[in-house]
Amino acid sequence: MSDSLPPSSITLTRPDDWHLHLRDGAVLRDVLPHTARQFARAIVMPNLKPPVTTVALAKAYYERIMAVLPSDLKFEPLMTLYLTDNTAPEEIKRAVDCSFVHGVKLYPAGATTNSDAGVTNLKHCMTTLEMMQAEGLPLLIHGEVTDGDIDLFDREAVFIEKILIPLRKQLPALKVVFEHITTYQAADYVREADGPIAATITAHHLLYNRNAIFKGGIRPHYYCLPVLKREIHRQALLKAAGSGNPRFFLGTDSAPHAKGLKEHACGCAGCYTALHAMELYAQAFEEMGALNKLEAFASFHGPDFYGLPRNQDQITIERSPWHIPEELPMAETTVVPLDAGQLLQWKFVG
Ligand code: NCD
Ligand code: ZN
Repeated sequence: MSDSLPPSSITLTRPDDWHLHLRDGAVLRDVLPHTARQFARAIVMPNLKPPVTTVALAKAYYERIMAVLPSDLKFEPLMTLYLTDNTAPEEIKRAVDCSFVHGVKLYPAGATTNSDAGVTNLKHCMTTLEMMQAEGLPLLIHGEVTDGDIDLFDREAVFIEKILIPLRKQLPALKVVFEHITTYQAADYVREADGPIAATITAHHLLYNRNAIFKGGIRPHYYCLPVLKREIHRQALLKAAGSGNPRFFLGTDSAPHAKGLKEHACGCAGCYTALHAMELYAQAFEEMGALNKLEAFASFHGPDFYGLPRNQDQITIERSPWHIPEELPMAETTVVPLDAGQLLQWKFVG
């Protein structure tokens, strides 16, 4: 056992967020500063209404993001396209030729928020995926089957067997990011599989198991997709994130929804963590005694996989307890951050 004192602050290379929802309009304006304060870059999800399906739409979205970025913050949005049954291979060419699109997102139709236009069957996308494989453009996967007769908690594990393994057999050189993994099956698969594959892991899946959704009553702010799983899965995610394996890296999946749409008879899926992302990850890494692995997970493995340079500047987080606000202004309404009202041990200082 080490007798050294726990650190009172950590300084690390500025991290990036490899899975983020920024939305649009007034919501974008209000949530963007939270992410841009902590992260240099973020992979921006394309599930707007209507979805970002073309390079032209991605360029317009990029410009809307930059237009509301506060002038004292530096931030680079890494744009993605939303794959549909009709995405043409030429669109992939255009994406590769532009400087701002870094991936294509696969939402199985109906899997999550704004996924109705998603892919109904990957067989419709094969020539487009072949083009992505040839050009080295990553496919970012929401890995859940959508079959009503598959138990909600099994949808990721079934996706691996039914969709992911066959797809990667057909396209073994396709770069794949298995987004926001939640199970030991996904962690095992990503660790053991051949070829170019990686996974993002959220802070909330490292910190909580499914009990959090039901503790003392139903708690909608802990409901996200893929849904939180059993403790055995959380332990596997902690092990993967803290292992130093370059296939695992940070992706918050911070997903703002108005308070009233979460606290609702049919509440939206998504946890809001952009405000305090690095503090939450620090808490999770400290829990497993792996604070020394946080920098590689947050700041090195992502850019290395995407073929982008690592950031040059640094951030510091301090052990300095503070209360997470109960809610934050967002457009005409508010958003409730994860762990609202609770004491957080770490604080981002800049
Ligand atoms: C995301 C959202 O709200 O857009 N929700 C979520 O629970 N994670 C969509 C997604 O990433 O699945
Ligand atoms: Zn997401």
